[in-house]
Amino acid sequence: MAGSVHLYYRCNYMTEVTIANSKKSLELSLSNVTVRFHAIWLRDNAWDEQTRAPLNGQRLICLRDIPFDTVISAANVNDNSLQVTFSPENKTAVYDIKWLLQNAYDKSPQTVKGWTAPNIETWDRRLMSAVPVGDFNEIQSDSAALRDWLNKVARYGFAKLENGPVEDQALMQVVDLFGYVRETNYGRYFEVRTEINPTNLAYTGLGLQAHTDNPYRDPVPSLQVLYCLESSALGGENMVVDGFRAAARLREENPEWLEILSRYCARFEYSGEAGVTLRSRRPMIEISADGELMAIRFNNRSTAAITDVPFDVMETYYIAYRRFGEIIDDPKMEVSFRLEPGECFIVDNTRVLHARKAYSGTGTRWLQGCYADKDGLYSKLTSLQNQACKA
Ligand code: FE2
Repeated sequence: MAGSVHLYYRCNYMTEVTIANSKKSLELSLSNVTVRFHAIWLRDNAWDEQTRAPLNGQRLICLRDIPFDTVISAANVNDNSLQVTFSPENKTAVYDIKWLLQNAYDKSPQTVKGWTAPNIETWDRRLMSAVPVGDFNEIQSDSAALRDWLNKVARYGFAKLENGPVEDQALMQVVDLFGYVRETNYGRYFEVRTEINPTNLAYTGLGLQAHTDNPYRDPVPSLQVLYCLESSALGGENMVVDGFRAAARLREENPEWLEILSRYCARFEYSGEAGVTLRSRRPMIEISADGELMAIRFNNRSTAAITDVPFDVMETYYIAYRRFGEIIDDPKMEVSFRLEPGECFIVDNTRVLHARKAYSGTGTRWLQGCYADKDGLYSKLTSLQNQACKA
């Protein structure tokens, strides 16, 4: 089944099963595709009541309960199910063929280091004309609208929300829609209040370099919500940069640079208040064992002395680090938008970097921010998607 990832199954397809590989695996042949499954994998993933708890689906056995020399002694297709008998247990399990195809693993492995999951779409400045957005009232009252908005956050790593209430701590109502606040030493939420003073224009020039928040925590808060309550100052737009797209550009320019920023750990530290010393040792670009891009940590203000790069590699490391920053700073990479009172945005803090642009003129700006985590958001999204499938 090399190369095929998306499988589908229609009832009443002609399906055939063949035992192969000295009974250690089987081949399931549909009209246009053949998928292989190992005996040990099938046995471990049986859905009978002795293997899985009927109510919550949790596995009731350990791998040690399955004989090491498990093989397939018989296999038959009946309607839309596959029956498999395992030896030496002499146990028969029944599998839904649709489930088997959804969980098939007989496919070509990803070969590009830094690949991203199919539900992710990386972006650059061109997304500015189609900033992902939802309507607060709609997503509060309509689960399909909530599902679509959460799906945008999962796909693009950020999304705006409009027409929310202009009231203290309204951001909590946003988090309540999908999960839980992640409380930190900054509290359950934090204030971002700025009085723009025209006599101190130096301050207004302080646009921040795009960054991910709190890289000195391990794990980092994986979501951030920034909610606008007041905005009379000119400028101060929010901007976001897709760190995954930036990593892909770095790889295209020089694969060694991606390699070096993912192989060696940087260090991050924050000890800006009494009793708090937060430290982490993680790479700026985190890649899983099989090459998936997992996370970006990039924050010039809280990068500590980097001491885990060998002497002979440090010069190249700094070249790669500098270039990664230049790509992040490239205006072609940024999407910017203004937040009006009652508007907020949520950002995947493991992927998308954010920043505030410089202010000009006079006025005030009041935002509230908080952290949350992606597990809750993905849980809510998957539940809503499953509901929609059943409907
Ligand atoms: Fe920030």
